[in-house]
Amino acid sequence: MNEQALMDIAKVLVAGDKGLLAMDESNPTCNKRFAGLGIPQTEKTRQAWRELIATTPGLAECISGAILYDETIRQRNKQGTPLIKTITDAGIIPGIKVDAGAKDMAGHPGEKMTEGLDGLRDRLGEYSQMGARFAKWRAVIALGEGIPSRACIEASAQALARYAALCQEAGLVPVVEPEVLMEGDHTLAQCFETTEEVLRAVFRQLYIQGVMLEGVILKPSMVLQGLACPKLETVEEVADATVKCLLRAVPAAVPGIAFLSGGQSGELASARLNAMNLRFKSRLPWALAFSFARAIQRPAMEIWSGRDANVEAAQQALLHRARCNRAARRGEYSAAMEATGA
Ligand code: 13P
Repeated sequence: MNEQALMDIAKVLVAGDKGLLAMDESNPTCNKRFAGLGIPQTEKTRQAWRELIATTPGLAECISGAILYDETIRQRNKQGTPLIKTITDAGIIPGIKVDAGAKDMAGHPGEKMTEGLDGLRDRLGEYSQMGARFAKWRAVIALGEGIPSRACIEASAQALARYAALCQEAGLVPVVEPEVLMEGDHTLAQCFETTEEVLRAVFRQLYIQGVMLEGVILKPSMVLQGLACPKLETVEEVADATVKCLLRAVPAAVPGIAFLSGGQSGELASARLNAMNLRFKSRLPWALAFSFARAIQRPAMEIWSGRDANVEAAQQALLHRARCNRAARRGEYSAAMEATGA
């Protein structure tokens, strides 16, 4: 393991007020998003969408790294240029999702376990050869009556740590993603408690398994009330709870925390990230960044709708969301930015 190289990559991923763009939807997930907009669900349209993202002028001003999916990292444009080359040439570091998705957990109704450790060492070697410099693994934690169970939390944390150790061995920075889902009627306080418990379990396992924290990016969910919770928390309450929870559970050695958006609107995700940086940035040991998929892609995908004629307008919408999130890292995002489309 080249520790310095891993630390350097991790640092660059959260430098310059930039963040990550997750464009690593599995084929079924990407198809689901397309179906909702009437876009044909084919390999060709998935390629066209990812090409649109990768060729957005100026994207690298705000995006340090892009997370790809196995199909995507192998795709080429009509001229035969590999997408990963387009991304690298644009000044964006390519990463790769390496988990094989979350499946129903045996004996634990309502809970999921992420698969994909078998053969992972070989796959990481191949992705590294192809030019990937970091990887992502997502564990999912559902909140509800009697869940999450200890079994789900511990097994998910252990899998994340095993994945992270294999990544570092292969010279890839692991993005460690324990997602506490928004579905349910749980309160902010309940989400706080579960998120703290999950993060503590994750960092205990990372320690046990010898993962070098300086070469890791944490990708957590924000601490939020459930989607069906009647009490709507303010942006400031969410920011305070999220930062308090992270300060309790995330060691200072971690260089960066890049949130997932989890189904929040683009505006809310930006506003909440902004509030965290505005209120706490100077007092935090790690950078607070973003690694959004839907909160960056959604408006652009709606505009594109699979039509060539809409590519430019969609790219402008994508760049707009990326800029809003860079501003949020600086604590400079405001609703006025949305109005002007600046
Ligand atoms: P969202 O930002 O849409 O939650 O996606 C982030 C991600 O990478 C999920 O694994």
